[in-house]
Amino acid sequence: MCGIVGYVGKDNDGLKKLIDGLEKLEYRGYDSSGVAYFQNENIKIIKEKGKISNLYNEINFAEKTNLGIGHTRWATHGKADKENAHPHMIGKFAIVHNGIVENYTTLKKELMKKGYSFKSETDSEVICALLDYLYKKDNNILNCIEKLNEILKGSYALGILCSDEPNYLFAVKKNSPLIIGIGDDSNFIASDVPAILDKTKKYVVLEDGDYAKIKMDKLEIYNNGKIKKYDVKDFGFDSKMIDKQGYEHFMLKEIYEQPEVFRKTTNPYLETGFDSLFNKMPDFSKYRKIRIIACGSAMHAGLVGKQMLERFANVKTEVETASEFRYNKLFLEPDELVIVVSQSGETADTLEALKIAKKNGNDTLGIINEKGSTIAREAKIVLYTEAGKEVAVATTKAYSAQVAMLSLIALNIANFNNFISKKEKVEILEDAKKLPNYMEGLLQKNEVYKEVANVIKDYNDVFFIGRGIDYALAMEGSLKLKEISYTHSEAYPAGELKHGTISLIEDKTPVIAITTDKNVASKTISNIKEVKSRGAEVIYITNSDYEDDTFYDKKIIIPKINDIFTPLLTVIPLQMIAYELAKIKGCNIDKPKNLAKSVTVE
Ligand code: F6R
Repeated sequence: MCGIVGYVGKDNDGLKKLIDGLEKLEYRGYDSSGVAYFQNENIKIIKEKGKISNLYNEINFAEKTNLGIGHTRWATHGKADKENAHPHMIGKFAIVHNGIVENYTTLKKELMKKGYSFKSETDSEVICALLDYLYKKDNNILNCIEKLNEILKGSYALGILCSDEPNYLFAVKKNSPLIIGIGDDSNFIASDVPAILDKTKKYVVLEDGDYAKIKMDKLEIYNNGKIKKYDVKDFGFDSKMIDKQGYEHFMLKEIYEQPEVFRKTTNPYLETGFDSLFNKMPDFSKYRKIRIIACGSAMHAGLVGKQMLERFANVKTEVETASEFRYNKLFLEPDELVIVVSQSGETADTLEALKIAKKNGNDTLGIINEKGSTIAREAKIVLYTEAGKEVAVATTKAYSAQVAMLSLIALNIANFNNFISKKEKVEILEDAKKLPNYMEGLLQKNEVYKEVANVIKDYNDVFFIGRGIDYALAMEGSLKLKEISYTHSEAYPAGELKHGTISLIEDKTPVIAITTDKNVASKTISNIKEVKSRGAEVIYITNSDYEDDTFYDKKIIIPKINDIFTPLLTVIPLQMIAYELAKIKGCNIDKPKNLAKSVTVE
């Protein structure tokens, strides 16, 4: 999704700093980029369609500047071309914008009547014209930004340059993230931490409605016309964490980090066994029901969580896609806990769903990876996953950390209600210690994943089937395959195929079938036989010892462990098959086309 970076400082290598920052934001996904900067008291703009390298080639780095803004655009309003790329400039103002202005068509019409004309199809250029119009009436930029806050509807994070103010960078934020990095004789703005992480560790988070006047050695933040105090925070991690460290792709590195992520996420809660779990987790006893709301893979983690919460802890759990929940009739009950799951903590639909639940009076719990993100700040209770920075657009380690956190919640509730025997508790704690080694064992089976990828590479459609928790995993496996290898796939509850979809099974159609759930394994095996007898090429992922080997072509064995942890193993072959297939097909694995890491538009 769009990215913003801005710099004001004593050093004159502003262009290099802006391009550096934009490159760090590439992982978010974009289709054009641009910069605006001061040159001899004038604002100069360079923008290009496509990769940042196209922009790079247009820039003369011999030009000196100590004040500028940069942007990577992920097209929403208007196609991905140079005209629609940011920055936009009208009159004295150049701006970069993340978010969506909902009332831009009305504003555009009004501004056109006032004589403004537009070069782009974007909502962002309208903001630029509006600022210029307001500034002509009141020569005070801060007053104009305050007025913008009253007029604009929707979401926006803006970096603003004004040709009358060659020493100042301005910024404003509403419903779209923006931080200010505080350096030595330099300050930065950024929509996301990596853009400035190698420049400074200190930052200030802008709240909704905040706007800032930033000089190289001074920062003033305002809200509602009044100057406000702010806290300077420390990132607590450094730029090495966003290095590939020898791996070919960030995605591969992140898949391999999962054993460590599991330890880091669960160890603090299991330090002294079930006692520490009970002491460190919130009190769930007052909730009769749980509603998990999230998007994409985070929602798939929620589906695994539902199975765990219902089976182990006997709590009725519903899972909803945030973008649907928001517009559905609200059936939240008073004793229902709303859990929102998000790696970035910035996903627009998840954030809005959380706000709806809060407004309805429900308690909210966020399972969040990015510390201090908007959702983490908004949720009543936060449980942080310890996945560290996830750079690849397709989530892997953050997903498994979410599943791990949900398993802890299920265990805690089950323990509180005395659903787990002493013997099983001992086994579970032992299995938690063994799990990272089992994960490592699965990671070493690289050759098998490559073989599977080679089998499915020539087919346009792949099916993933399973029941119960295996179906939840099938959905994640299918999404991974689609998003990074651009191979169409469908996840189906195994028993549902014969109600229509089985007509698509032909000779050699790849079917990845999962049976780790012993309650339904034999039923799933019957379904696998149904597709096998219609010619399917079956890749069978299982932890069962079922001896019949007539119904599959390739078998991937998952080590046996307590059911609560099995999904954390099963997902590894699914991630690796998608990775290997994307590699064979030469796809852009870390930055798949059309996708963004942090989905800050609705
Ligand atoms: C898929 C993927 C997405 C995210 C979804 C939610 O690999 O990464 O489906 O899971 O966009 O993002 P967060 O967790 O940041 O709310």
